[in-house]
Amino acid sequence: MATICWKSCYEIGVGTFDAEHQNLVRLVNALYEGIRQHQGELLAQEVLDELILYTDKHFQHEEQYMEKYNYPAEARLHHQQEHQGLREQVLAYRQRLQSDPQNLLLPELFRFLRQWVLDHIVETDMQFGAFLRQHSVYDCGPPVL
Ligand SMILES: [Fe+2]
Repeated sequence: MATICWKSCYEIGVGTFDAEHQNLVRLVNALYEGIRQHQGELLAQEVLDELILYTDKHFQHEEQYMEKYNYPAEARLHHQQEHQGLREQVLAYRQRLQSDPQNLLLPELFRFLRQWVLDHIVETDMQFGAFLRQHSVYDCGPPVL
């Protein structure tokens, strides 16, 4: 298990969303640091709450630009379903953590988030980024940070 080291191949080519993705990675890495430093219990709830708020804002931001530039319906639906899936999974983990005094769940949660974030960025967000770039959109306003 290791933190996510940001690489240029994770960039989707739209500065606004690349900055937001780096922030998302920072939050996932913060969870790992909490586990490593054995502050897991305190930190996990805090980081998860921040992650829930942040993913909501970030997903809304992406979805707003899908609408604005008429991202094709099928791709949009698939993308939104992935966002919704993550929201549900994170809320379920948050619930489970409340009855996990030994924090046995934390490494699993970190692995899940690490995998989800990277898979979503390099596949689903990358396709959306390519669409925006095809429409010469490289900036979607200030990043939500
Ligand atoms: Fe996305």
